[in-house]
Amino acid sequence: MKRILLTAAVACAALVAVAQRADYRIIPLPKSEVTDTAHVFVLRDGMGIAFDAANSEVTRNADFLRQWVEEVSGVKLVMTPDDKKAAVRLTLGFATDKKSKKKKGQQVPSLTPQQEEAYTIAVTQDGILIQARQPIGFFRAAQTLRKSLPVKARSAADSSVELPFTTITDEPRFAYRGAHLDCSRHFFKVDFIKRYLDVLALHGCNQFHWHLTDNDGWRFEVKALPELAEKGSWRPQSPLRRAGLWDGTPYGGHYTQKECRELIEYAAERYINIVPEIDIPAHIYSALEVYPDLRCDVLHQRGSDQVLCAGNPKTLTVLKTIFGELCDVFPSKFIHIGGDECPKGGWERCPKCQAKIKDLGLKEDGKHSLENQLQTWLNREMGQFLSERGRDMIGWDEILEGGLTDGGLVMSWRGTKGGLEAAKQHHRVIMTPTDFCYFDYYQLRDHDRQPPAIGYYLPLSKVYSFEPLDGIPEEEQQFILGVQANLWTEYVAYPQHVFYMLLPRLDALSEVQWCRPDLKDFEDFKERLPRLKRFYDRIGVNYCHDME
Ligand code: ACM
Ligand code: ZN
Repeated sequence: MKRILLTAAVACAALVAVAQRADYRIIPLPKSEVTDTAHVFVLRDGMGIAFDAANSEVTRNADFLRQWVEEVSGVKLVMTPDDKKAAVRLTLGFATDKKSKKKKGQQVPSLTPQQEEAYTIAVTQDGILIQARQPIGFFRAAQTLRKSLPVKARSAADSSVELPFTTITDEPRFAYRGAHLDCSRHFFKVDFIKRYLDVLALHGCNQFHWHLTDNDGWRFEVKALPELAEKGSWRPQSPLRRAGLWDGTPYGGHYTQKECRELIEYAAERYINIVPEIDIPAHIYSALEVYPDLRCDVLHQRGSDQVLCAGNPKTLTVLKTIFGELCDVFPSKFIHIGGDECPKGGWERCPKCQAKIKDLGLKEDGKHSLENQLQTWLNREMGQFLSERGRDMIGWDEILEGGLTDGGLVMSWRGTKGGLEAAKQHHRVIMTPTDFCYFDYYQLRDHDRQPPAIGYYLPLSKVYSFEPLDGIPEEEQQFILGVQANLWTEYVAYPQHVFYMLLPRLDALSEVQWCRPDLKDFEDFKERLPRLKRFYDRIGVNYCHDME
């Protein structure tokens, strides 16, 4: 008995000792990591972080690192910009880049966006040296260290951690690494969006696709059309899903342009671009309730079946006002126009829409219906409008149905077929197929162990197995910009429920977005996950505890 107790005590002590050590096998896994566990550098309170204080962006990232090291491990580092011998040093520029520049007369190949994000971390007896091509690399490196450090008990007496000697070299696989949030079906406050952005940044995501409007609520303030936000953001009641009842309680909320700008800045400091979406010409009941003259005036259209009237000249004027303000607020190169699930029954019966089809000279071509071609005409008008403002239009893959607009990006959600077709036509593509990327689906087979969800089943293992370039011919793979998770919120009303649906599935998707396929291994991923969950516990972020 005594022996057993002693063994347990020793094992416990060993666990505590191990728990004070960094482990660089994080999520998403760095591209290359060579670690010598026999030697460690001990990071302690009062050690310094050196950086170029003249560069405010570098300074911000150095300070993120300081905050994050303390948050996870308790070690309090100090900012010592001029101390070249500090324990942690941030230096800009790669020696290999300098060498290649020196070769006279030779063209220096331009860097991919992924190479711009590259960083290295070297831990030696001298401390931690972080090198990056651009300040963004410091941010990525700081996130890597944050996740590598042990989550120490806040009461731990010893405030030091051991970092095994290592050389980490890292950069992402895809340029576009996104996650979406539907803020129409349910409205989430600015403070929560900041937390959501923090979690995206933790996963190396660089795009937040913000679904700002839908049938259930208009969330974007348009100053020239104030009623959109004042009235269109409110609904008299919400469905009690499953029960088939209504709650009888008014529900609403919207983001002012000032709040949008605040979030854009917050996201930019975390190297995330916000891609705003105003969904047209369907999914727009919230606006049609406010401006009924913008809908096709035909019988048999009800609620969410209703669409914008493409034949009414006022429609385009109003859309240009809305998208004009959207472009004024959001600096994003990409602007999302939705375009999904547009029922064509109204357009088929609407005299104005049919007259427009005639005016435009649209003809049956055996491939695209006249109404689908009408939608493509509307997309083209919007694409042109955005292009004049230096923006590129993104649409859900339905935008292919009437013939794709030049320069438009396709978000392939009904499988990867649309993405494949668009890539063949040399259009850029973002892969977000329902089968792998729809995080509103159940994540466990047993529905009773989860809050009600929209249906279907998307377990962690399936998310992890996604290979976005499968079936894409090699010469067309360059058009696949990246991958995105979508989180629709018909069933998701509260922040901790959002995180429950997101995590750990975003962990799995982050390896699809970040890692070369040959590095991926689901069994290994599962072994790395518990450490990240401890980190989620530390920062107070919810996640699904079970995994399938
Ligand atoms: C979509 O899920 N309707 C894009
Ligand atoms: Zn019409």
